[in-house]
Amino acid sequence: MTIEQLNEIREAKRELVMVRKLIKEEGEKLAEKTGYRKQVLICGGTGCTSSGSHKVVDTLEASLKKHGLEDEILVVKTGCFGLCALGPIMIVYPEGCFYSQMTPEHVERIVEEHLRDGNVVKEYLYQETVHSDGSILSLNETNFYKKQMRVALRNCGVIDPEQIEEYIAVDGYQALAKAVTQMTGDEVIDEVLKSGLRGGRRRTQAEVPMAIKDDVLRKLLGAEGVLSGSALADSLHVSRSAMWKAIEQLRSEGYNIEAATNRGYRLAAGPEALTVSKT
Ligand code: FES
Repeated sequence: MTIEQLNEIREAKRELVMVRKLIKEEGEKLAEKTGYRKQVLICGGTGCTSSGSHKVVDTLEASLKKHGLEDEILVVKTGCFGLCALGPIMIVYPEGCFYSQMTPEHVERIVEEHLRDGNVVKEYLYQETVHSDGSILSLNETNFYKKQMRVALRNCGVIDPEQIEEYIAVDGYQALAKAVTQMTGDEVIDEVLKSGLRGGRRRTQAEVPMAIKDDVLRKLLGAEGVLSGSALADSLHVSRSAMWKAIEQLRSEGYNIEAATNRGYRLAAGPEALTVSKT
């Protein structure tokens, strides 16, 4: 896939997914542009699946068909919302209203009263979202959500994890696109080191020095004068001892790295042919 194709998918699907992040008038206006009057998000996470969310989805899809609503109402199976004890969870946008502990028996009334006629079935809502004056709160206004700032899981409970286009719509793969089209290899390595990300498997103590050896060499090559051991270790997000072992490894490969007491390290000379360039 080209970057242009990636961006075309993002633009084509963006509004459809953004409806799930906006509520009330803003959400309604955007929903009009997408071709779907409403979107029903049903949790397909482990907790909700074990309490029967797939049966709710099947019943909902059959009921929408029966009422001729399948082209107006989009059903989306999402990942976990984080409120598993209240599952199966169903959220309807653009209202953002939050139905909890759904069963197939609840579905027909929601389809007829809410999805067809526009009247929320307050009796089935999570009761924390229903005020005594009858007004309702959206999912994101609940106490559980409003104090959270989700980072890695910000799209969980928003997109369908089995539809790659939905991930692309929320900027999926944009970092990869930037890395391969706009950054040098060193810039990518610096960015990953700065992020503190460690990957899926922790490196063993023995692996770290070998893995950072080239980075230590790059830093020494780029330094003017002596580079302090702690600055070097901090910049690579590793311990002083891992950094020292990397220097020992480089020395064993023929690099002459001088250590000035209490000041740091300096690359005095490399082996005949340096294998790592500055760029
Ligand atoms: S599994 Fe559905 S909210 Fe967690």
